[in-house]
Amino acid sequence: VSSTGRGQADVLIDGETIVAVLQPGSQLLGTDVAASVDTVVDATGKYVIPGGIDAHTHMELPFGGTNASDTFETGTRAAAWGGTTSIIDFAVQRYGERVQDGLAAWHEKAAGNCAIDYGFHQIIGGVDEDSLAAMDSLIDEGITSFKLFMAYPGVFYSDDAQILKAMQKSAETGLLTMMHAENGPAIDVLAAQLAEAGKKAPYYHGIARAWQMEEEATHRAIMLANLTGAPLYVVHVSAKQAVDQLAWARDQGWNVFGETCPQYLYLSLEDQLGAFSEEWGQFEGAKWVCSTPLRSRGEGHQHHMWKALRTNDIQMVSTDHCPFCMKGQKELGRDDFRAIPNGIGSVEHRMDLMYQGVVTGQITLERWVELTSTTPARMFGLYGRKGVIQPGADGDVVVYDPNGHTSIGFGEGKTHHMNMDHSAWEGYEIDGHVDTVISRGKVVVDGGQYLGSKGDGRYLKRGLSQYLI
Ligand code: URP
Ligand code: ZN
Ligand code: ZN
Repeated sequence: VSSTGRGQADVLIDGETIVAVLQPGSQLLGTDVAASVDTVVDATGKYVIPGGIDAHTHMELPFGGTNASDTFETGTRAAAWGGTTSIIDFAVQRYGERVQDGLAAWHEKAAGNCAIDYGFHQIIGGVDEDSLAAMDSLIDEGITSFKLFMAYPGVFYSDDAQILKAMQKSAETGLLTMMHAENGPAIDVLAAQLAEAGKKAPYYHGIARAWQMEEEATHRAIMLANLTGAPLYVVHVSAKQAVDQLAWARDQGWNVFGETCPQYLYLSLEDQLGAFSEEWGQFEGAKWVCSTPLRSRGEGHQHHMWKALRTNDIQMVSTDHCPFCMKGQKELGRDDFRAIPNGIGSVEHRMDLMYQGVVTGQITLERWVELTSTTPARMFGLYGRKGVIQPGADGDVVVYDPNGHTSIGFGEGKTHHMNMDHSAWEGYEIDGHVDTVISRGKVVVDGGQYLGSKGDGRYLKRGLSQYLI
């Protein structure tokens, strides 16, 4: 299955590279292919797809007074388990830190530790003369996109003046501007007012981060991008009104893109309100505290988002994988939702959760591949090497069994490999299963066995976005 069609074929991988895609029974250089290969993976009756590309992860992210619980080692291993063979993580420049130093620290965390290939975006946490100058050399480093935050004042936040300057740099260089579009200063006022009124449970995180805050910021980002000529990619879109902003901008013909995440397709604010466990009581809802927040199902955001995936108003699905344990991490906000580290861990489950959308008739098989692999490759300058099964591409191939089954979570017969003490996806059942995962020609997952090792993954120097006009 590719992003454009399906058919029967044999895929021949030599070393790390796909060398041929053959019709059944084809001869290669006069020899019977099946007889001359070292390893045969029988994919009869199963789907063969290009390895998943998760373009939004945060391994080891320092956030909310703690660090995301997956290291590059544990996080990329979990990704491999789930059929993802490349990630693009966010290197972080924090305010007061030099971009080059932030990036060097990220290389140090990842190098030699990854099970699958990895690239970086650059978070610019402080737009100033120094960081703007540093952005000039990012492309040479294979980093062709950077993220700004309209949220999180005092942490990563950029004001409109800073955004304007960074976007001018984006327009000038071809670096893709990625935007966390939420009105952070206004959200912080709302959050403080809720807390003062005694409304401190996890659910109020989503009330403070109202959809109006996302719609407004998305519109502002679009207009600043249009003014400057910067290509814009809005991350973790959850509000239907923000989707409509993107659709409107795209209808103008502007180079604007959007990503959503499985949590915004499946989980809701109502789920969070009703969350309860014996151990944590209503604080159980903290496992679903992320930004942008879960949205109300009653308001129809999830339904609208699936539609946007079909109509291409939203172009791809990443996880925003940012795991925190309940114990010692999420519980920092036990008495006040504002202190709960933001993030959900999903890197292992994206391919499955999106496949379930095929099963339920929300998207086609081809669209599944496009949303999870082919478009991420094109968007972030990897296409040809990644995101497609064709001669010359890296041997990143997943065999997916539509007759298999996956039960997500902890316990007998269930699957969970991320470094977390809970699953945000506990109890989710998938009518399909990742059977075999091949990463640059090496079988790393085979029928429930993990065969990869840390250090298998290499740094991906990316080209410019292949959607640049
Ligand atoms: O809740 C989230 N999304 N945590 C990760 C940081 C970000 O804004 O992407
Ligand atoms: Zn963000
Ligand atoms: Zn993120």
